[in-house]
Amino acid sequence: GASLFEAEAPPSSLTAIAEGIEQCRRCPIGCNGTRAVMGEGPRAADLMIVGEQPGDTEEREHRPFVGPAGQLLDRALNEAGVDRERAYVTNAVKHFKFTPRGKRRLHQTPTAGDIDICRWWLDGERALVKPKVILALGASGARGLLGRTPAIGKERGQAIAQPDGTQVWLTAHPSYLLRLDGEAREREHGRFAQDLAGLSRLLS
Ligand code: URA
Repeated sequence: GASLFEAEAPPSSLTAIAEGIEQCRRCPIGCNGTRAVMGEGPRAADLMIVGEQPGDTEEREHRPFVGPAGQLLDRALNEAGVDRERAYVTNAVKHFKFTPRGKRRLHQTPTAGDIDICRWWLDGERALVKPKVILALGASGARGLLGRTPAIGKERGQAIAQPDGTQVWLTAHPSYLLRLDGEAREREHGRFAQDLAGLSRLLS
């Protein structure tokens, strides 16, 4: 369908995106009173990492992947020999979607529609940073990048070539790993580590 942004020129700088997302009310999440969380990292990074949306900690600290999922991600990247400091880290959706539960804010998965609206900003970041490789964490990150919701289990751990010459690499979302225990946890941590080792080879 027609884009809500059709008449607008693409953002010309990361600063314009940071300002744009703060004002953006095109999807319902932008109206929930939270602060948008901008991507962070080198302006010309070879690697971009795309998650789903900021979580509770990220919204409060106003930075992507600094909560529990971010800590798991940092450890796993480190073990795979991928330097997060050299990556541009962002999300498919820039606002935190949640349901209030007492004093807590429970994560709500953004809809495909939310992700598709917010792609304008993600595309802006892609066009400006021009990464060689993009790591998608989970189905939402992948949808933001590919424009379709892939089966992560089938498409993870392989380079998916994009029309703009970049390679998209899919893996599970670290929040998913945090919800598992026992054998499933072991197994999924292993697969995650394997995927990141493959990413590391692709980057070298
Ligand atoms: N989960 C995400 O997808 N992104 C963040 O920034 C934090 C947690």
